[in-house]
Amino acid sequence: MSEKKKKIAVLVSGNGTNLQAIIDAIRSGILLNTEISVVISNRKFAFALIRAQKEDIKTVFVNPKSFQSNEKFDDELVKIIKENQADLIILAGYIKILTDKFVNSFPKNKIINIHPALLPKFGGKGMYGDNVHKAVLENKEIESGCTVHYVTTEVDKGPIIEQKKVPVYESDNIQSLANRIHAEEHKLLVKVIKQILFNEKKSAIVI
Ligand code: GRF
Repeated sequence: MSEKKKKIAVLVSGNGTNLQAIIDAIRSGILLNTEISVVISNRKFAFALIRAQKEDIKTVFVNPKSFQSNEKFDDELVKIIKENQADLIILAGYIKILTDKFVNSFPKNKIINIHPALLPKFGGKGMYGDNVHKAVLENKEIESGCTVHYVTTEVDKGPIIEQKKVPVYESDNIQSLANRIHAEEHKLLVKVIKQILFNEKKSAIVI
């Protein structure tokens, strides 16, 4: 007898390598009984949408310019997510800051985000993409990493679920550091999704 599949909604804005990691984990059976019910982007040409379409996953581009306010835009996102009955909402490179209304439209701990640094350091407004790695290098950190955390109304400040550290080398540039972290993000995100969907997790840890 097959169990009812868990449904996830993934919000993206860019390349979508984290989305790809989820797709691959579902295909390989690392994530059993799970399906991506919808991928939503605020950017029409996000490559993440192509990745999803290749797999026949439902995609929706929601154009921010079609809405009078961020709240109205987020109302549309909430509607789509609810229609697609997501058990978990994953921000995987989603660049737009969510309104409080969006966050408060879902039960606690239903939204997670992946961030390319060891929060609480190097998080908050403006800390995304290369900005994060640039700040880490300028600060002469000897380690960085990635964090998966629950999303609350405060940007990058929700409870940390799990982190993975990587070393920072003197020879690093933004790209080399970003690549090292990205590789770990893909594993960490899949691991945490599995833990949350199948109640495998008891407490937060840093590896
Ligand atoms: C990742 O570094 C993630 O931590 C951050 O945005 C980036 C998205 O990368 N939130 P990708 O689009 O999944 O390749």
